[in-house]
Amino acid sequence: MTVTKRIEVNAGKPYSVKIGKGLLDKTGEEAKALGLDGKALIISDDNVAALYIEKVSASLKEAGFEVFSFVIPHGEGSKSAENLIAILEFAAENSFSRTDTFFALGGGVVGDLCGFAASVYMRGANFVQLPTTLLAAVDSSVGGKTAIDLQAGKNLAGAFYQPKFVLCDTDTFDTLPDEEFSNGMAEVIKYGMFCDGEFLDILTENNTDIESIIARCVQIKAKVVEADEFDKGERMFLNFGHTVAHAVENLSSYTTPHGSAVAIGMAVITKAAIAMGKCENEALEILIELLKKYKLPFECPYGVDEVFEVTLKDKKNAHGKITLVIPTGKGESVLQKCDYNELKEIITLGLK
Ligand code: NAD
Ligand code: GLY
Repeated sequence: MTVTKRIEVNAGKPYSVKIGKGLLDKTGEEAKALGLDGKALIISDDNVAALYIEKVSASLKEAGFEVFSFVIPHGEGSKSAENLIAILEFAAENSFSRTDTFFALGGGVVGDLCGFAASVYMRGANFVQLPTTLLAAVDSSVGGKTAIDLQAGKNLAGAFYQPKFVLCDTDTFDTLPDEEFSNGMAEVIKYGMFCDGEFLDILTENNTDIESIIARCVQIKAKVVEADEFDKGERMFLNFGHTVAHAVENLSSYTTPHGSAVAIGMAVITKAAIAMGKCENEALEILIELLKKYKLPFECPYGVDEVFEVTLKDKKNAHGKITLVIPTGKGESVLQKCDYNELKEIITLGLK
């Protein structure tokens, strides 16, 4: 039997992340225990709603909430300005106040959209994360980055807005398609790559349960976010592999999922780091072994010029420079600010 794990995140108003089996049934109880009451708006996508919305709704009703739901089509295309406005209008039509609560039931798409909607509704309604993908569990549900996509690119409008609590029910992974589990593993591997060599060994040896894997990732993320909630310094380590990943997602018109793109981005930057003499080969060997194990891609299907052009639009550009996370060894990395010429050289080395 696995025991529920609990991690505290001291960002915004401190909150807890609970990870374990059967937790969706406790949504209402948890919310009530934190003093939340009134109306609940469950935001979910069509796939997840069909599987889990009844469970969450029943739990919230049992705890005395008046429950509403808003279901969006699944997929990145739903992280849109149209859906944001539709949610806000729906909440207003149903007389939600800022003391009411938005519940994000789903993966990162639902979490990012719902969180942003909560952050701007009446300048801030309560918000709860109920992640149902591994990617959302280890990354997007924790740390308070919320966003929608604009025509020009991903996550270009958003807010830092922390949830009141996060409940990760690992039973929901029973219905998660294998490729979505793999996409989540890309973000798991990311944590090992940038700061935790021992974790890479654990992942290679395959001798731990999913709750422990998620808890280790959330512990790392909590520490990073506590040190740099607003992404001015240390939090940039969480973007390991993401500069090229965002270019791959954009160039594929978002048909390459985020996790797969991160897998490619990590391989590209690690190859570049080795070519620059900054990283030991061992890091790339472990990375490729793990990406193969979880059936993740590591070859970039795009050329230097197109990848470079898209990275110039990345929102992490500041004063003509972009900060890259450069691996230096197994579970070690540094931040490096690059101008555009250096960036192009690094991409060229990584794509060789
Ligand atoms: P997703 O939300 O699109 O979910 C992937 C697919 O799995 C969807 O089709 C969904 O319907 C389905 N699904 C979800 N849970 C399921 C379940 N339990 N059973 C069956 N099907 C299920 O994708 P994702 O990978 O969870 O999230 C990707 C998004 O997260 C991207 O938009 C990315 O930008 C964002 N993200 C945000 C942060 C952050 O810090 N805010 C971090 C990483 C990624
Ligand atoms: N996923 C990157 C971050 O939360 O900063």
